Amino acid sequence: MKRKPTKPKSRPKPTVKTAKIPGLEPIERASREAVRELQLKRLKWTLKHAYDNVPHYRRAFDAKGVKPSDLKRLEDLAKFPFTLKEDLRRNYPFGLFAVPRQKIIRLHASSGTTGKPTVVGYTRKDIDDWSRLMARAIRCAGGRPGDIVHNAYGYGLFTGGLGAHYGAEALGCTAVPVSGGMTERQVQLIADLKPAVIMVTPSYMLAIADEIERQGMDPRKTSLRIGIFGAEPWTETMRRAIEARLGIDAIDIYGLSEVMGPGVACECRETKDGLHVFEDFFLPEIIDPATGQVLPDGSPGELVFTTLAKEGLPLVRYRTRDLTMLMPGTARPGFRRMAKITGRSDDMLIIRGVNVFPSQIEEILLKEKRLAPHYVLEVRREANLDELDVVVEVRPEGLDEAGRADAARALAKRIKDLVGVTARVRPVDPGKVERSIGKAKRVIDLRPKG
Ligand code: DLL
Repeated sequence: MKRKPTKPKSRPKPTVKTAKIPGLEPIERASREAVRELQLKRLKWTLKHAYDNVPHYRRAFDAKGVKPSDLKRLEDLAKFPFTLKEDLRRNYPFGLFAVPRQKIIRLHASSGTTGKPTVVGYTRKDIDDWSRLMARAIRCAGGRPGDIVHNAYGYGLFTGGLGAHYGAEALGCTAVPVSGGMTERQVQLIADLKPAVIMVTPSYMLAIADEIERQGMDPRKTSLRIGIFGAEPWTETMRRAIEARLGIDAIDIYGLSEVMGPGVACECRETKDGLHVFEDFFLPEIIDPATGQVLPDGSPGELVFTTLAKEGLPLVRYRTRDLTMLMPGTARPGFRRMAKITGRSDDMLIIRGVNVFPSQIEEILLKEKRLAPHYVLEVRREANLDELDVVVEVRPEGLDEAGRADAARALAKRIKDLVGVTARVRPVDPGKVERSIGKAKRVIDLRPKG
């Protein structure tokens, strides 16, 4: 018999009795004050570590006239400069590392705003911490040692696959490293290996559900109990749809490569009321994206993170560009929750879990001599999966059918090779893409909201 998914609580109790939840780490039961005390200690260490070992931080702190020793209270962090994705790009590939490169045992990378990716590095301790935090996240979601975990996050430079994998192993689960794609085989493995937990992007979960049905099975009758979904925005409506369709608990997990990868924050199965930020390792702030002013808890704004224990790539006030708000903890009283991500303060798109900046596509498109620099990106959802269309004008001198098809194929291939996303390129006649007065609207997002 399959259990019914627990209902998300619309008005959660201020706290949940953690004593009743088995297997928690002491810090997950700790008070807010105890967590803040630990944060202050670790924050002082991070600021000093970054200042002493990374020329970029030394320059940025000096330019603002602040020193690590100026931080006496957590609130003093507001005096320190922000770190931007642009800073990672300018210091590409290893310039922000705070330890000798030989101490870095793993590299990952995520999309940059232009051709160069953002490279992140981990020491052995960083990997151990990350594994522990991912194990914690899986347990928050309801996973337990001994569970079989079907991991359909992509393995490779993307942090999803390996991050989830190490976490599953650290918790004492049986990890199945399926990676993304080959949907038929995903379904076969779920049917044969009988996992309790699946980790995958929510949109791909729906594609897997379609395939389960196509193969004549009932998606509610699989062995799955829990889905841990992240890497792209999804809504409460989507949660309800997934839970009803698969008879599982659908849990939100958040993270980003620069800060660590998946496992920066995760929902707890007991409450499903937002993602508890693992505040012993990451200090969140919410700022006004226009002014950079710190906003009080409960106000929507841009999420900023400072890492508290990372050796390889410490980050001070990293602007994630993700929009959310912070709320008091419930199932883990010492950690604040963040609401589901509602959008971004930049134009990054996430297509099937792949981060795509319009500027990356533009850079590639401008190199195709048969096409004009007038384009718009259309994103739509078809059969639960995101589709990206690049609508681009041919040059004013025109191009015949065969030339258009060839240019479209060539551009789609370059986009796939360089950005990692499948795009349909639709060449159109000169003048067909709307001209803008002022800021060009490069993205038309036709995906359903909510
Ligand atoms: O997406 C890490 C991850 C992997 C998280 C697997 C969860 C599960 P990046 O590729 O660097 O890292 O992309 C980070 O993805 O800034 C958000 O915009 C978005 N994102 C990640 N998780 C969520 C989520 C991974 N739960 C960027 N809800 C972030 C909404 C998310 N957006």
